[in-house]
Amino acid sequence: MKKILQIGTKGQLGWELLRTCAPLGEVVALDYPDVDLSNSTGLRELVRSVKPDIIMNAAAYTNVDKAESEPELARAINATGPGVLAEEAKKIHAVLVHYSTDYVFDGTKGSPYVETDQPNPLNVYGQTKLEGEQAIAASGCVNLVLRTSWVYSMRQGGFVTKVLQWAREQEVMRVVDDQISSPTSARLLAEISALILAKIDGNDISWTEERSGVFHVAGDGACSRFEWAEKIIELDPRKEEQVVKKLERASSSEFLVPAVRPMISVLNNAKLEKMFGLRLPPWEVGLRLTII
Ligand SMILES: NC(=O)c1ccc[n+]([C@@H]2O[C@H](COP(=O)([O-])OP(=O)(O)OC[C@H]3O[C@@H](n4cnc5c(N)ncnc54)[C@H](OP(=O)(O)O)[C@@H]3O)[C@@H](O)[C@H]2O)c1
Repeated sequence: MKKILQIGTKGQLGWELLRTCAPLGEVVALDYPDVDLSNSTGLRELVRSVKPDIIMNAAAYTNVDKAESEPELARAINATGPGVLAEEAKKIHAVLVHYSTDYVFDGTKGSPYVETDQPNPLNVYGQTKLEGEQAIAASGCVNLVLRTSWVYSMRQGGFVTKVLQWAREQEVMRVVDDQISSPTSARLLAEISALILAKIDGNDISWTEERSGVFHVAGDGACSRFEWAEKIIELDPRKEEQVVKKLERASSSEFLVPAVRPMISVLNNAKLEKMFGLRLPPWEVGLRLTII
């Protein structure tokens, strides 16, 4: 059995990982403030005391707009902290599983991004997540960096729960139609992560070493936020509570927010499928499986 140190238990993904990783072995799971990614000394002490086979980092500074005014805190949490975890993982031959984002790209490619495409983040969040990826790679530890996009869960404040709420409050809803990516269920992302980890043989680090690096893992296919909202409203299990009568297409320029977002940041998941024989279902299927 594996010993897993899970950092982040209360966020969308962390909550789901608690369930899906439980059958893999002994899980030591902590969230802020019991673990603070911006406290390097504390992180080192934690890893040295737990001595895990696998470190899973589901925590991050994820407020994309607020990061524009708190770049140093975002950097400490998204770049420095993961770099420290990677250095400690290297020392004890642990595998580091970490999550990154489609926002490392600028969204101008015009077709789904592969892992070898050149990142060019447009905002502080994307920049600090990219720096985290780079710090992990520089450490030389065995790692799985899973880049994902538009993560949602039914548990708290993400896009799906917001749309369900707006549909109960607004007769006319305006949703941006010019941002395109792939909605990813936190539950399915946790499940695919656990399936990858289940393949790791603790006695054969070379198996994971050969597969170390960045992988794109997002719901299959792509849509605009408008199309996503349309599907959420259609699949709402309690439709009778909706008051919404009309969904209107809007442009990102109508909503003034601090952080610039990439317009088309769809990820190509082929490398993961080829390497591990695993893939997430089409985003609509993921939504149907999650929303009910
Ligand atoms: N959400 C998305 O759309 C999306 C898209 C692409 C990639 N990702 C990546 O996917 C991963 C999981 O995202 P998510 O949506 O599950 O995030 P989330 O729901 O925002 O959860 C992030 C967690 O990190 C914790 N945290 C914040 N600062 C911390 C610190 N200094 N030390 C320790 N923990 C801290 C948060 O605690 P508090 O709640 O107390 O702050 C929260 O529990 C992240 O790496 C994220 O960058 C997310």
